Amino acid sequence: KNVLVLNGPNLGRLGSREPDVYGNQDLPALRVLLEAEAPEGTTIDLRQTDDEGTLIGWLHEAVDTATPVILNPAAFTHYSYGLRDAAALVTKAGIPLVEVHISNPHAREEFRHTSVISGIATGVIAGFGFDSYLLALVAVGRIKS
Ligand code: DQA
Repeated sequence: KNVLVLNGPNLGRLGSREPDVYGNQDLPALRVLLEAEAPEGTTIDLRQTDDEGTLIGWLHEAVDTATPVILNPAAFTHYSYGLRDAAALVTKAGIPLVEVHISNPHAREEFRHTSVISGIATGVIAGFGFDSYLLALVAVGRIKS
């Protein structure tokens, strides 16, 4: 079993980007954490892009391969209807998609309080640092298909 862990814009800069908000760990460290905690037989396919079209293409791939998705849409969360529509293709196909955030966007600036993704996501986990991804992995594993 494969799980896609998709990360949007500026998340490739984790480690040095606003460490007060996002911590000191980078994406390779996230991969190590998830691989260590993944159940036997589950493969973590972790990717990051700054490009909206690429992210949309990966969601299409999730539909075509029926692969569950853990998605940190980063800033696209707040305004990308294109990404929302692609994410809706996933959940409408009956494939789990968990929206995750490292920070708690509701405790931050007003513009971060809106997510155009949450309404079509299977569920949302935010505010637990990298553990948000870990909790999402547990959640995906518990969904009966
Ligand atoms: C984020 C929160 C977003 O508001 C922000 O644009 C990000 C990261 C998070 O993981 O906390 O880039 O998705």
